[in-house]
Amino acid sequence: MTRIVAAEVLDHLAPDDPAARRSRRDLVRVHRAMGTRPIISRGWRNLVSPARARAPLRILELGAGDGSLLLGVARSLAPGWPQVQLSLMDRQDIVTPATLAGFAELGWAAQVQVADVLGWAARPDDAAPGWPSPRWDLITTSLFLHHFDGGELDLLLAAAASRCDRFFACEPSRSWLAMAGSHLVGAIGANVVTRKDAVLSVHAGFRRDEISARWPQAGGHWQVRESAAGLFSHCFSAQRRGAAR
Ligand SMILES: C[S@@+](CC[C@H](N)C(=O)[O-])C[C@H]1O[C@@H](n2cnc3c(N)ncnc32)[C@H](O)[C@@H]1O
Repeated sequence: MTRIVAAEVLDHLAPDDPAARRSRRDLVRVHRAMGTRPIISRGWRNLVSPARARAPLRILELGAGDGSLLLGVARSLAPGWPQVQLSLMDRQDIVTPATLAGFAELGWAAQVQVADVLGWAARPDDAAPGWPSPRWDLITTSLFLHHFDGGELDLLLAAAASRCDRFFACEPSRSWLAMAGSHLVGAIGANVVTRKDAVLSVHAGFRRDEISARWPQAGGHWQVRESAAGLFSHCFSAQRRGAAR
């Protein structure tokens, strides 16, 4: 299956368009069906040891959407990850005060950055207002990298590699099983936007070592892993050699 990246419907709807709101609600059910929250929690735990997780951690999510997926991840990890500064970056301003309050209840300091990630990648540094260091302990993505191809994807990965010690991505698997699943999201009540985008996402998804092949490896500074995860996902993780586990 050749990789095809095409514009998704949701990306072109206004954030408050009723179809966009509904599609974002659908995404919660899609994530449940894909098992995304446990996949991400496991992926992060594999990158950050229990000892390191107890120390202050700075985490950035690129393409965070409404932040609800990571709130679920935070709820499962917070007891062992008590001092997290989390930055949620998306070009749409769709994280609700209730979601931010959810992070605060867990003791996580969450901040929204409304920005185009390609602009962030092209800037020489990414210090968020009020937060000092441009270095992230972990940069993470979910259903995001697959929006990009060619030079844009290379730019994003290079920017991430130069600004973090660990990177984790959970993306659609470009497999026949995921393709079949994407045609069935109507069965969980998904609207037309979600039904179209699910199919487009799988066509733009990843397989084998496609992300590793683009990850900047000069100098052999990174330990990378890439594999299918669950029935429908494809994960990539990278850890800077020498970063405290
Ligand atoms: C499919 S949603 C995934 C949201 C969330 N990560 C999740 O898994 O639930 C993709 C998100 O990427 C954002 N996005 C797409 N292109 C972007 C860009 N160039 N810069 C910032 N955000 C972008 C969209 O606004 C959308 O919220």
